[in-house]
Amino acid sequence: MKRSAEILDGLQTQIVGQEIEIYDQLSSTNDLALQRGIEGGREGTLILAEHQTGGRGRQGRRWHAPPGSSILASLILRHRLLANQIGLPNLIGALAIAAAIRELTNLPAQIKWPNDVLIHDKKVSGVLTELEYDQDHQPFFVMGFGVNVNTLPADFPNELWASATSLRIEAGREISRVLLIQAILSQIEKNYLCLKCGKIASIIAEANRLLYIQGKWIQIETPAGIFDGVVEKIDLDGGILLQNVSGDRRKLWVGEVIHTRSENQAIGNSNKMMYGKSKRREMNHHVSRSTSRKRGENNV
Ligand code: BTN
Repeated sequence: MKRSAEILDGLQTQIVGQEIEIYDQLSSTNDLALQRGIEGGREGTLILAEHQTGGRGRQGRRWHAPPGSSILASLILRHRLLANQIGLPNLIGALAIAAAIRELTNLPAQIKWPNDVLIHDKKVSGVLTELEYDQDHQPFFVMGFGVNVNTLPADFPNELWASATSLRIEAGREISRVLLIQAILSQIEKNYLCLKCGKIASIIAEANRLLYIQGKWIQIETPAGIFDGVVEKIDLDGGILLQNVSGDRRKLWVGEVIHTRSENQAIGNSNKMMYGKSKRREMNHHVSRSTSRKRGENNV
């Protein structure tokens, strides 16, 4: 993926990815996209890197990928999010990646709310969306995503063997990063235009169709504590609806699924891929009110 012309040739979008910058090495594509966004960079600008020296994941973790193996990408998107849309960009990113993987490889990619993509229970991709204001005080966000495309088993550190995978491992063949990024950009644009027009229902319906944790018992770690319950669905504002053993329903907008369990299964692991520290402002770090019917406490 050395030239933007390779990607632009055959790219079926109006906005997303219509301007592309490709680098051999960056600290983080999100950092450069944030900088470009602050300077007034065009909506839809895509920053790609073959290698990141400081790739960032959610919750201060690091994102590692061997040079040239993956898609490491960040998009500048300019939409003033309403309070009830804050959780949607991560979901749009994860959904786009899962849909593009299915389209290109037929692999059964699923989304693990709020921002992971899994294949056969293992993480293949993650999304990190960050909010910023430009020099004219207009809000924008950067949607960053990493996809393990042609990563080999030996490339993963030991601690990730059980929880991480790549498209090459799952498909048993090399996958074209150009075709995949084109497909992802088209899927993002489709759902981003829906977001801009307030047509959220179709995005959520699609996310629920591909939801890995649907019907599973999960445990979620949030800034306000750990909650558990069986997943009903993703709601229209991107929050996840859980029902606990007492029948209480609860909606969570932020958090990390740390355990999942389906019928007759032992508690699984959290598919955590990253580790480390960071100070950036992630978009889903907001606190929202409870929807629990029986208790009045905050959920997050
Ligand atoms: C996660 O699962 O925690 C999100 C990982 C996001 C990683 C991508 S790689 C490209 C972009 N640049 C970054 O520094 N992070 C995102």
